[in-house]
Amino acid sequence: MTYNFDEIVPREGTDAFKLELREMVFGADDVLPLWVADMDFKSPPAVIKALQDRASHEIYGYTIRDKKFTDSIVNWLNRQHQWEIKEEWIDFSPGVLPSIMVALHEFSEPGDKVIIQTPVYPPFYSIVSQNERELVKNTLVETDGYYTIDFDLLEKQASDPRTKIFVFSNPHNPVGRAWNKEELKRIADICIEHEVLIVSDEIHSDLCLFGHTHLPMANLFPEICDRIITCMAPSKTFNVAGLSSAYAIIADDEIRERFHKRLWAMQLHMGNLFGGIALRAAYNEGDEWLDALKKYLEGNALLVRDFIDENMPEVGFVLPEATYLLWLDFRSWGLSPIKLRKTMVEVGKVGMNDGVSFGTEGAGFQRLNIGSPRSIIQEGLQRILKVRNEVYKKH
Ligand SMILES: Cc1ncc(COP(=O)(O)O)c(C=O)c1O
Repeated sequence: MTYNFDEIVPREGTDAFKLELREMVFGADDVLPLWVADMDFKSPPAVIKALQDRASHEIYGYTIRDKKFTDSIVNWLNRQHQWEIKEEWIDFSPGVLPSIMVALHEFSEPGDKVIIQTPVYPPFYSIVSQNERELVKNTLVETDGYYTIDFDLLEKQASDPRTKIFVFSNPHNPVGRAWNKEELKRIADICIEHEVLIVSDEIHSDLCLFGHTHLPMANLFPEICDRIITCMAPSKTFNVAGLSSAYAIIADDEIRERFHKRLWAMQLHMGNLFGGIALRAAYNEGDEWLDALKKYLEGNALLVRDFIDENMPEVGFVLPEATYLLWLDFRSWGLSPIKLRKTMVEVGKVGMNDGVSFGTEGAGFQRLNIGSPRSIIQEGLQRILKVRNEVYKKH
C-alpha cells in the first residue's frame, strides 16, 4: 500500500492544540505551526477504520481493555523492539505524563530529588516541581550539536540519598539521541548502585531514524527490573495523542503492584474507549505505515539539512537519531533568546518551540517539528531564511 504523506489535511475547525493555541503561545494566530509534537498526517488507514467502525455503534459507555489490548502491545514490542514481555507486566495509563506522575507520587516523597537531563521536554520540569519534588539537572554535554551524558555528574547526583528518581527520556526530546548500549549500561549501573528508580519515558521509541535502533533499557539489563518503569504509548508514532492512551511496563511484581494501586487511587485507570481501539489497530496493523512514515520523516530531515547547508550554514544542526523534532542552533545569529523568538514570529511568521522552554541550555535554539507534508517544511524553511536575511549580517 502507498501512503500519501504529501497530502495537506486542513486542521482548522478541529480544535487542534497546534493551531488554536498559537495566539496564546506566540502572540499571533497566523504563524506556520511547526511546534507541539503531533503530526499533520492522517493516522494509518487501519486506525481510522477501527475508530469509524466503533463510532458507528453509537453507544460509548465504560469499556474494558482486555487480552486483545495487551496482546497487541506484547506483539508490537516483540516485532518492533525484540523485547519479549509478559502480558501481566503491562499497566494501562491515560498518558506518559500521568504514568510519570503516578511513579513520582508512589516512589518519592515531597522534597525528594528527581534527576532530569536538560535541555528536555518542558513538562519534565513542571511535573517534578509542581508535585513538590526537587529538580536536579543532569545537563547534557553538547559537542558540535551532538549530545552526550556527563556520567560523573550523574553519579554524584544519584549518590545523594535524597535522590529517588531519574526521569529519563529515551529517545531524547529535543536532542534526538537514541541512547546506545554503553550509555544505557552506565546509567543502569549508577542507578542500581545508588538505588535510584528509573522512570524511562520511551514515547518516541518507535521513531528511530537513519538506521538507529531503540534499545529498551529494561530489556537490555534484566537485572535492573526492580529499578525501572518503562513508559510507552502509540500516541507519537501513530498521531493519536488526542486519544489519551498509554501504558507502563514493569517486570517487578512489587513495583508493579504499587504503581497499579497508586494509579487506581488517583482514578487514572479508566481510560478512553477510542484510545484502546486505536492502540490495537495501530499495533496490529501499523508496521507498514510506520516504515513509510519513517522514510518520509528522513526525507524531511535531509531536506532541512541540505537547505541549511546551502542557505544558512552557520545554523547548527545534526540529523536526529530519532523523533520528528529537530533541534536547531541559531546561536551564531547573535540574538538574545527573546529577540530570536520574536523575530521568528514577527518577521518569519513561523512558530517553532522556543529553545529556552526546554531549559536555559536551550537559549539560542528552536525546535522544529518536521511531522508535516514536505511542502509545509519547505515553506517553514523559506520563512526561517527570511528571518536570517533580516538579522544575520555578519557576512
Ligand atoms: C518525551 C515526551 N514524554 C511525554 C510526552 C507526552 O505524553 P502524553 O501525552 O502521553 O502524556 C511527550 C509529548 O510530546 C514527549 O515528547
